Amino acid sequence: MNTLDENAVAMIIGASGGIGLALTQRLLDHSRTGCVWAACRRPDNAALAALAQRHGDRLRLIAMDVGDSDSIAEAFAVVESKTPQLHLLINAFGFLHDADAQIWPEKRIEDISAEGLEANFRINAMAPALIARQAFPLLNHRQRAVFASLSARVGSISDNRLGGWYAYRASKAAQNMLTRSLAVEAGRRAKRLICLALHPGTTDSALSAPFQSRVPQGKLFTPDFAASQLLARIDNAGIEDSGQFYAWDGEPIPW
Ligand SMILES: NC(=O)c1ccc[n+]([C@@H]2O[C@H](COP(=O)([O-])OP(=O)(O)OC[C@H]3O[C@@H](n4cnc5c(N)ncnc54)[C@H](OP(=O)(O)O)[C@@H]3O)[C@@H](O)[C@H]2O)c1
Repeated sequence: MNTLDENAVAMIIGASGGIGLALTQRLLDHSRTGCVWAACRRPDNAALAALAQRHGDRLRLIAMDVGDSDSIAEAFAVVESKTPQLHLLINAFGFLHDADAQIWPEKRIEDISAEGLEANFRINAMAPALIARQAFPLLNHRQRAVFASLSARVGSISDNRLGGWYAYRASKAAQNMLTRSLAVEAGRRAKRLICLALHPGTTDSALSAPFQSRVPQGKLFTPDFAASQLLARIDNAGIEDSGQFYAWDGEPIPW
């Protein structure tokens, strides 16, 4: 992370997830990181508690339900009162299915439900926009700052040849449009803020677990590998990359 400022303040939202936890860990291991805000619904979970023991107050745990706009606003009020500037914010949360398979990616049009559409849009599309609204003043300063949202290649409209997964695909496409609009506005109002949509690659996590049998051998990333690739993309990004959609290996993904 050569482009991170000395004592940079980072924030990972969805820090309890497979990729979110690995990102939090890697940032804490980096000497330039001053502190990392790790936000999720249950910040008292064992993995984050173990990290807190190792890193002391460089790790700041905060509760945030990204499906609830009041919860987002309350968490940001705390963050702003302690660290009025952020240098890196990564939206590492996401929704594809619920734990008891009541909401599941649709195979055909008959599978579409209001509940499925609402759950996917609330987390994948609405939450990054509500977070951007709260985070913008903290990211708008004289130093380089990055706002990155983990998207998915299946959110690419031109790359969609298989169909299905209506709610997830559409919510990620909506997320991408929000990232792009934010980049356009940042170009006018926050000239050092870089906004990115990033595809992590298929990674071993609770989100991908039910679908991993289709992944060719050797193509399933560990969360740590995905995190290292994503941080490299963020590190290499310049202002000319703002508003773009990149895969884990730096390849641009068509919208
Ligand atoms: N894994 C892949 O193969 C893959 C591929 C392409 C894109 N992605 C994208 O990468 C991102 C990270 O996915 P992952 O694989 O790391 O998934 P994961 O391990 O299932 O983690 C999902 C995270 O989202 C959080 N989350 C969900 N609903 C939330 C809510 N209402 N409030 C707060 N947090 C909430 C979860 O928190 P809780 O612990 O509170 O549930 C968890 O931290 C997602 O945007 C996903 O779409 C993943």
